[in-house]
Amino acid sequence: MGLAPIYVRRDPPDEPMRDMAGEHSTSPAARPSEPAATPDDFSAAAEGSRRRMIAAMGWDELSEAVANCRACRLCEQRKQAVLGVGDRKPQWLFVGEGPGAEEDARGEPFVGQAGKLLDAMLAAIGLRRGEGVYIANAVKCRPPGNRTPEASETAACLPYLERQIDLLAPRIIVALGRPAAQTLLNTEIKIAAARGRDFVYRGVPLVVTYHPAYLLRNLPDKVRAWEDLLFARQQLARVRDPKNKPLT
Ligand code: URA
Ligand code: SF4
Repeated sequence: MGLAPIYVRRDPPDEPMRDMAGEHSTSPAARPSEPAATPDDFSAAAEGSRRRMIAAMGWDELSEAVANCRACRLCEQRKQAVLGVGDRKPQWLFVGEGPGAEEDARGEPFVGQAGKLLDAMLAAIGLRRGEGVYIANAVKCRPPGNRTPEASETAACLPYLERQIDLLAPRIIVALGRPAAQTLLNTEIKIAAARGRDFVYRGVPLVVTYHPAYLLRNLPDKVRAWEDLLFARQQLARVRDPKNKPLT
């Protein structure tokens, strides 16, 4: 007694019993009307649940998830993933492309040559890394040979950046270079055409400028980057002015 298996009826009680005569019906009319799930359906569902999980993470979970992430092939050659650095209640968020060799080794964004120029750009408008400023990248793992990240890689990494931006709630976002701008704006742009335009990312003003690594090779464009940062500062002043309505 008590050892007999318990049979649980799985069919809804009002479903007619099939195959009563022991025949397996194969006519299309007898098959369930919904098409069978394909592998693509499963991966879309898995991606949806991954995005929802990331969207609910706090900083500790986010750091751990990024450190252990294998969602794109950039995980294969990284030494470590680089989440971002700085003030977690910032006014300013700068978003670059992806870690280079030094960032991969040290675990902090923009610590190589391009980073020195970024620090100088920040200083030029009275800012310092870590004080009211947070710095992140579109992809958290170093693209081999510092190649440009592919669209599939920035897409795989975007949920982390989105969650970072939610948690940071910056007042102004500066996209450094094309991959960062395209990832955040979800559209193709050219920096030369997008500079000076007032974009909005989820209610936060977003401006676009040249990537510091590009500026190291194209010194005359530094003047333009300087103008872009002044424009960003104006945009920030505009959103901070209580007379102005929030952006949508
Ligand atoms: N270039 C980037 O885009 N990000 C870094 O962190 C370093 C160099
Ligand atoms: Fe994950 Fe982003 Fe690294 Fe790709 S680049 S493995 S999505 S953390």
